[in-house]
Amino acid sequence: MSTPSAVTPAWPAEPEASCDDTEARLRWYASQARWAPSKHNSQPWRFVLTGDALEVWPDPSRVLAETDPSRRELVLSCGAAMHLAAVAARAHGVVPLVTVLPDGEGGCAARLVEGGAHTVTRADRDLLDAVPRRRTDRGPLDAAVLPPTLAFELRARAAGQGGWLHTVVTPGDRASLSDLVARADRLLVRAGGVDRELAGWLREPTDPRTDGVPVESTRGPAASYRAEYVQRDFSTPESKAGHDRPGPDRPLIAVLCTPADGASDRVRAGAALSAVLLHATVAGASCSYLNQPVEHAPSRLLLRENLRLDGVPQLVLRLGRGGAVSRPPRRPEDELVFKV
Ligand SMILES: Cc1cc2nc3c(=O)[nH]c(=O)nc-3n(C[C@H](O)[C@H](O)[C@H](O)COP(=O)(O)O)c2cc1C
Repeated sequence: MSTPSAVTPAWPAEPEASCDDTEARLRWYASQARWAPSKHNSQPWRFVLTGDALEVWPDPSRVLAETDPSRRELVLSCGAAMHLAAVAARAHGVVPLVTVLPDGEGGCAARLVEGGAHTVTRADRDLLDAVPRRRTDRGPLDAAVLPPTLAFELRARAAGQGGWLHTVVTPGDRASLSDLVARADRLLVRAGGVDRELAGWLREPTDPRTDGVPVESTRGPAASYRAEYVQRDFSTPESKAGHDRPGPDRPLIAVLCTPADGASDRVRAGAALSAVLLHATVAGASCSYLNQPVEHAPSRLLLRENLRLDGVPQLVLRLGRGGAVSRPPRRPEDELVFKV
């Protein structure tokens, strides 16, 4: 796990539009990619510069062996990181040409090379602005105040990356999902390793490490377990529940699916997640996760069956207008970017 260097070098600012230094641009794309979400903020990626390309590699030293033994969520996080690199390229006026698993399984998750010039739109810059503003918010989320077309737009964003966002709408389906989340949560905790693993990623306010989940980034045990959908709690006995606040908790619930569950599906699921989250951020929404049934194999089958999903479930999301929550840290450039 990460400890900060004595002096953390600054990440590069956006290069000038006229910049003809490919490496400077690729480094800047990587500086945006590191803001991707990842399980327990493990940041399980490495950015490799190979002359004209930026590659995102899974970092096997950051596997979560208890809850992600097949590295599904690790690869998914790498897909989200590459999506942000592509967002940065487009906002900078460059067509990003991204290949998923360019050398097959065992190589990098995705490779980006620059295509021709891209005419930058307002929407491109809005997405880039949303990269550091996006937050995982585990507090009450209100979907009722969001634009009524948002669910449709989010489905289109997921589809654009090869994913499928299934919104859980009927009271029957919402109740069935709520039961499944609570049951999977209990079964995962009972299995034992989940809490032990999580403990290694919790960060007290004085902890200088630049990965893991700050212990205040949670709703607290009582509110997390009393919510309509049981949420994972990240608090320690003395910590403050920074995401707990009054307000309506009526999130949009959605399951992100892919056609199959191979490595390329997982990279695409990450890109679809990132596309959904950035678009939601632009629309004023925050998100958090209800992944317990996806992490418990028998519950994952039930999830698919109960909600009559055509694809394979990869993530369960809650989305809505949240609060002002602080941003978890990210690792410095010298730990993440390598030139070969
Ligand atoms: C694949 C994946 C799985 C995640 N699972 C959970 C989860 O089960 N519960 C939760 O509260 N957050 C979950 N998260 C959110 C991460 O904890 C969060 O992205 C990370 O702490 C960084 O915070 P940020 O998203 O605000 O930058 C998950 C994120 C990813 C990408």
